[in-house]
Amino acid sequence: MPDSAALPDEKLLSRAASYIKGCKRLVVLTGAGVSKESGIPTFRDKLTGLWEGYDPGQLATPEGFLKNPPLVWKWYDWRRQMVSAAEPNDGHRAIAQLQKLVPTTVVTQNVDRLHQRAGSENVLELHGNILTFRCFERGHQALDGVASGLDEPPICQCGSLLRPNVVWFGEALPQSVLADANKAAKLCDLMFVVGTSALVQPAASLPHIALDRGAIVVEVNPNETPLSEDATLFLSGASGLVMPQLVRLFEALN
Ligand code: OAD
Repeated sequence: MPDSAALPDEKLLSRAASYIKGCKRLVVLTGAGVSKESGIPTFRDKLTGLWEGYDPGQLATPEGFLKNPPLVWKWYDWRRQMVSAAEPNDGHRAIAQLQKLVPTTVVTQNVDRLHQRAGSENVLELHGNILTFRCFERGHQALDGVASGLDEPPICQCGSLLRPNVVWFGEALPQSVLADANKAAKLCDLMFVVGTSALVQPAASLPHIALDRGAIVVEVNPNETPLSEDATLFLSGASGLVMPQLVRLFEALN
């Protein structure tokens, strides 16, 4: 079991910091691991991941929602309350700081808006966000706030059920967000891939798009993933420790 409280070797961190110094366009692609230190469970971590205890087919597909709208509604309501009570951690803050120092596009699979709350701007949310709603049939945005604690989904003015504004399995990602993310991956010369198992497409293909174009890809994760052997550099450790240290080393180079 890797020690997520340990920092990677100083030489590897310095190498990653020098990559930042040399880069013109940075992409930071993130996943659930970035928010773990804010107390939000990941999906696939052993024992603690959400998909260890819950069935994604039941809770994160349009079919699951239609089969049992109250169940899905209440599960997202629970997660929404957890996310609302959470605070950004040092990893989110370091990524926001990087964006101030280097031209950076933040692309996230997370639906929790913690990057934005930490100060990141123009975040590309590949999987939507859990804090807003749209209607199931026609995609009408729910403009008024929706109360927590409801036992079933409210009804849109068009008569359809409201649902969380997230992407479920089997659904297309928001087209323009995905187009912007693909473009950023093609144009960047450095990509950090932080806190994702790199298993879910199309997000998982972004680092390969960058690698194919000659970019450097640095992975930050306490555990290896299918990306690790292709990445230019693998930094083993928790985002909340590694990312601030990288920013410190980068600032020391300037
Ligand atoms: P996963 O749960 O699949 O992966 C989380 C990753 O974070 C794992 O590789 C962990 O090793 C790593 N990790 C754990 N703690 C960390 C820490 N402190 N710092 C850095 N990394 C850490 O989450 P995602 O890759 O985001 O989609 O999952 C992708 C998508 O699958 C999600 O957006 C969600 C899920 O099903 C939908 O619901 C559509």
